[in-house]
Amino acid sequence: MSVPLQLTEVQKVYGTGPSAVTALGGVSYSFAQGTFTAVMGPSGSGKSTLLHCAAGLDEPSSV
Ligand SMILES: Nc1ncnc2c1ncn2[C@@H]1O[C@H](COP(=O)(O)OP(=O)(O)OP(=O)(O)O)[C@@H](O)[C@H]1O
Ligand SMILES: [Mg+2]
Repeated sequence: MSVPLQLTEVQKVYGTGPSAVTALGGVSYSFAQGTFTAVMGPSGSGKSTLLHCAAGLDEPSSV
């Protein structure tokens, strides 16, 4: 199976200290070639953050 995009334990934390918000707490996923993936979840669950990091528009805090 070809895997053109792979996320491994991606973490994104906005801010620091007591006001820090963990948007992604270690997300792993492989997007297979020729498939469609729907990212679903409640408001604030990190969908946009996930896609920004996956697309390279934002940098993860750690991977
Ligand atoms: N630039 C930012 N600075 C600080 N916190 C942020 C920032 N962007 C997102 N967050 C926080 O990170 C968490 C995930 O937000 P995100 O926008 O990724 O969620 P979402 O699933 O796309 O929500 P929605 O369905 O409302 O678009 C939320 O708690 C949000 O408040
Ligand atoms: Mg969003």
